[in-house]
Amino acid sequence: MFQINENYLKLPGSYLFSTIGKKVRAYSEANPDKEVIRLGIGDVTQPLAPAIIRAMHEAVDEMGKAETFHGYAPDLGYGFLREEIAGKDYRDRGCNISADEIFISDGAKSDCGNIQEIFSADSRIAVCDPVYPVYVDSNVMAGRTGEYDEAAGVWSRVIYMPCTADNGFVPELPGERPDLIYLCNPNNPTGTTLTRDQLKVWVDYARREGAVILYDAAYEAYISQEDVPHSIYEIRGAGECAVEFRSFSKNAGFTGVRLGFTVIPKTLKCRDVAVRDLWARRHGTKFNGAPYIVQKAAMAVYSDEGKAQLKDQVAYYMNNARVIYEGLKSAGYEVYGGINAPYIWLKTPSGMSSWEFFDWLLEHAHVVGTPGSGFGPSGEGYFRLTAFGTYENTVKAMERIRKLKGSL
Ligand code: MLT
Repeated sequence: MFQINENYLKLPGSYLFSTIGKKVRAYSEANPDKEVIRLGIGDVTQPLAPAIIRAMHEAVDEMGKAETFHGYAPDLGYGFLREEIAGKDYRDRGCNISADEIFISDGAKSDCGNIQEIFSADSRIAVCDPVYPVYVDSNVMAGRTGEYDEAAGVWSRVIYMPCTADNGFVPELPGERPDLIYLCNPNNPTGTTLTRDQLKVWVDYARREGAVILYDAAYEAYISQEDVPHSIYEIRGAGECAVEFRSFSKNAGFTGVRLGFTVIPKTLKCRDVAVRDLWARRHGTKFNGAPYIVQKAAMAVYSDEGKAQLKDQVAYYMNNARVIYEGLKSAGYEVYGGINAPYIWLKTPSGMSSWEFFDWLLEHAHVVGTPGSGFGPSGEGYFRLTAFGTYENTVKAMERIRKLKGSL
């Protein structure tokens, strides 16, 4: 009989957002007259910007002519896009990153999930708690996380770094030495950030300990405060200890289009092996390149017209973040995030658990959010709302929540 990868059997339940999707579908079926507002998964609602649509149309037309048709894309990405990213996302910010250190993919989620493959099977991982579930789940699948303690909601070989209101959502350096450290800044789910000085502590630590920081910067476009770095490579020495993930999903609305990239500087080495070369090898073997049409569309993200349109889009979502933040505050909630990120993190009222609050909010306000405990044990007692809804729905959701004030 064939054998399966038994690590998959260790995964508790289904993927967080699938569980929520199922619950919401069941609720809607049982209550067809209720208009449900979804502020759960961080999926965008605004259409693609006109500059992007134009670039896409042009690329589609090229695909229709023999002389400009494109087959397989280069597996690491088209040079035109890699150059544009290296110049505009990095060198313009003073980061010494070149095009051949950038790897185009179908999105940051796949890259964050796949990156662990190129590190040793017995690597110890450290994660913030709460955390984007992909980091932990992908390491569970690889057999790196030990045994699951269901009562505590933790894995025996994972180093958890609690991020709660008590420490201002800033992870403390771990007592045990990790090999791989996952950091997400601005943070999903808490919507909070690490400043340049706080991130420097991590870069110095990783270099001292010979660890790698796997830095998820998917929400970089939402940073509004000066002291929050847009890239980890703004910190001196990060080129020797960090991999960075970026996405076009949140800054340009590509959640359904799919495009992202990973940066691995040549200076990130394990003895004399460049980590970059392993990722290039993996990419070449397992990925056939992101579509030409999509990579051309991404070029418009860097044009003056595209930049202006996307700035407006980000401002639209951040206005929603403000509406949620202020709406919750005025309804008496304890609220965090929402300043440099499209996520608002709130303390559940009256000592309710995260899932109890999920059910209560769905039942009474018909609003969907994400239970904090789904992101890890330190997320218990918290709840996440996303600013990616439409303005109208966001305002309506807040009106409904405000009306419930005092009913708990
Ligand atoms: C989320 O809701 O956390 C995001 O949608 C995650 C993602 O981008 O995959």
